[in-house]
Amino acid sequence: MGFSTLVLAAGAGTRMKSEKPKVAHEILGKPLLRWVIDAARQAGADEVFTVLGHGRGTTVPLAADTTIVIQDEQLGTGHALQIARSSLEAAGVETLVVLSGDTPLLRSETIRSLVDEHLRAAAAVSVLTMCLDDPTGYGRVIRNAQGAFLRIVEHKDASDEELETAEVNSGVYCFDTANLFKMLGELKNNNRQGEFYLTDVAALTLSAGNTVNAFCAEDARELAGINDRVQLAQTTAEAQRRINTRHMLNGVTITEPTSAWIGPDVVLANDVEILPLTTLTGKTSVDWGSVIGPMSRVNNSVIGKSCVVDDSVMIDAVLEDKVSIGPRAYLRPGTIMRTGSRAGTHVEIKKSDIGPNSKVPHLSYIGDTQIGENVNLGAGTITCNYDGVNKHATVIGSGCFVGSDTMLVAPVTLGDNVIIGAGSVITRDVPAGALALTRPEQVIKEDWKRKEAKSHD
Ligand code: UD1
Ligand code: CA
Repeated sequence: MGFSTLVLAAGAGTRMKSEKPKVAHEILGKPLLRWVIDAARQAGADEVFTVLGHGRGTTVPLAADTTIVIQDEQLGTGHALQIARSSLEAAGVETLVVLSGDTPLLRSETIRSLVDEHLRAAAAVSVLTMCLDDPTGYGRVIRNAQGAFLRIVEHKDASDEELETAEVNSGVYCFDTANLFKMLGELKNNNRQGEFYLTDVAALTLSAGNTVNAFCAEDARELAGINDRVQLAQTTAEAQRRINTRHMLNGVTITEPTSAWIGPDVVLANDVEILPLTTLTGKTSVDWGSVIGPMSRVNNSVIGKSCVVDDSVMIDAVLEDKVSIGPRAYLRPGTIMRTGSRAGTHVEIKKSDIGPNSKVPHLSYIGDTQIGENVNLGAGTITCNYDGVNKHATVIGSGCFVGSDTMLVAPVTLGDNVIIGAGSVITRDVPAGALALTRPEQVIKEDWKRKEAKSHD
């Protein structure tokens, strides 16, 4: 049987002390809210609902693939569900998993087993709990002498005796919606925070004679909520540990796991090596045998087999196989480097296609350029692609040799097998097989140094 998921993310997250809403803060390059939405999707949710409010200009785009419910005033987690009710009813949701937008490490397997357990027990409400050494701030799970669930008491409303309880509410639940909707109408805000608590649905359900299931998660770290930046860093370290362990067990060498930062959606083939101080984020993939780092930053890029990315930056770029870049290459969006090509030291490339076996070895800027195969661009070659108003294209045919310190003033096309003399400023197209150069005659004034020296006497 299917289920849908609702993610609570309307709160401000005051303790982050941020202009940005809490769930927009990132772990390994991915906003907290996205971690939770993606886990819900992976668990097989039919539909994902998000409750947004505070900072919605930032949060709404993050949840664009979900059904968004706006909670203008945040009057509590129960109030959030009251606001979402009509959308859930319209979608005919019967089994609903509720998650918080600030628990990024929650795994899809845990969501799935919560739902299975809920359905197996035919429960009206299932609460995922955890046992903590320091339960400060969390809602306590109160059970009777036989261990049966009774209610959840928020920290601020708890008696000294209740505060002793180590078992707390993780904020992850599964509800039968028919029961949930009935109980939402009965919530009161006569508590210390003056809020409508979703947690009160559990006790109300019990009083109505329906089943409430509360069971303890095996690994509390998975349910850690982020409230401040210390927890953000701790959770980042835990996410890093999990992700790097997975890759190493899959055959990836990570020289120094604590200095390799790999995002959750990065795909690495076996025999990839990640050297220290390297960050791989977004939808990046690296194929067999490539070596990335040290000190490289790669975002949303595709790297083929047997490539080397040494001390370099790649953003929205593609390397085919056996490509080598760096040290200190900067590949910007829209760069494609074909098989066997190379970009060397202090080379910046943007929106360009570098053909097979072509080389841009030193000190170049290449923008809006198409390069054929077996081309060599000398040190300091620059495509002047911008005239101050518009960007223009450069085309360089196969087999060209461009001498050092050449300015190619776009729009300009070099045919195949063109040779350009060093130091040229090329403003007109050059036909295939030609030599082009713009070079003033060299002037020599004999004995110049001696005369110069005399004039200063
Ligand atoms: C909540 C639980 C507590 C549990 C803890 C686990 C309640 C009353 N308490 O407490 O038992 O131990 O989570 O982390 O539910 N939100 C809204 N709209 C609102 C209020 C909150 O969308 O009006 C969202 C927040 O953005 C957040 C989530 O709901 O993502 C939880 O709210 P928060 O205020 O952090 O609840 P806690 O006090 O942590
Ligand atoms: Ca919280």
